[in-house]
Amino acid sequence: MRESFASAPGKVNLVLRSGPPAADGYHPLATVFETVNLREYLRARTRKRPGIGVETRVYDPPVSPAGTPKLNEAATESLAALPTERHLAVRAAKALQPLISQKWGPSAAGLQLTVHKTIPVAAGMAGGSADAAAALVAVNDLWELGLSPAQLEAVGRNLGADVPACLRGGWSFGTGRGDHLESFGEENPGSPHWWALAFAEEGLSTPAVFAKFDEMNLGAQALPTTAGHLGIDPALPAEQLAEHLRNDLAEAALRLRPELAEVGGCALACGALGWMVSGSGPTVAALAKNAAEAERIAAGWMETLEGGPLAGVAVTSGPSVGAKTEISLPDWTNRS
Ligand code: C5P
Repeated sequence: MRESFASAPGKVNLVLRSGPPAADGYHPLATVFETVNLREYLRARTRKRPGIGVETRVYDPPVSPAGTPKLNEAATESLAALPTERHLAVRAAKALQPLISQKWGPSAAGLQLTVHKTIPVAAGMAGGSADAAAALVAVNDLWELGLSPAQLEAVGRNLGADVPACLRGGWSFGTGRGDHLESFGEENPGSPHWWALAFAEEGLSTPAVFAKFDEMNLGAQALPTTAGHLGIDPALPAEQLAEHLRNDLAEAALRLRPELAEVGGCALACGALGWMVSGSGPTVAALAKNAAEAERIAAGWMETLEGGPLAGVAVTSGPSVGAKTEISLPDWTNRS
């Protein structure tokens, strides 16, 4: 038996601009991704039985930078109902299976995947895309396929619009469906931005948010086509970055979930520099001055909104490194 490990980051969108739908029904985007240090961890193992099996464990991410994720049994159980063939990690492995067969023979391609999720499900933070990104990296390593980052990105783009951003990590500017990327500046910027994240009890459907966006006629006529046109430097210190946060989908998401405005207002009252809905929501991301302030905002949410619309809160930083192989899984994956 052989095995490989990989991890991949989630994301928030610092800027998300959207035009009206194109002929294929999809909305053209111009977006700045900041990957964050909530990561999915994946183990890929060979198995004799053909096909691909998957087991997924869902964890609540930590509320403090020193904390560790905690297994969420209810969320793990509900994700177990997802048909295997719809799991993005499985679809990613499947996309590479023809290459495995070519290189190692048709009987070699049996795979067992284990996914440890710390990015909340259906939260607008690219959890599914990060699963795909981690699976691509792990399977590429496991079967010594030798695919380059650009080749993995090309495969990833067909699996989900956010997969290339999760593979690449750092900050990136995405056009098209958000999958055609231009990287920003520094190679290793560290993680200078601190975020408090509020997760809603109920997910928001991306098509429903885009439908509301169309109904409200919110599509921008002209979108920036390069990072330069956008006029924002994602590496700005949080105080300045806060002025540039923008999400064209927010108005539609807030129309569907008015209570999210209260969550944002609560963050500002607790000292957030700014807040936004992440992607198509419903996660609220509040930008903080530093780690301690992010914890203060998370604590404020728990106190003020207890019994309200929130399923949980977390603190994280960004940007994070892209999908990469790991030597092993983190200790907390063995604890429960
Ligand atoms: O990318 P994903 O498959 O999650 O998108 C789900 C749906 O959201 C699409 O079928 C489409 O209706 C809508 N969508 C869109 N424009 C985008 C992304 C998603 O209209 N850029």
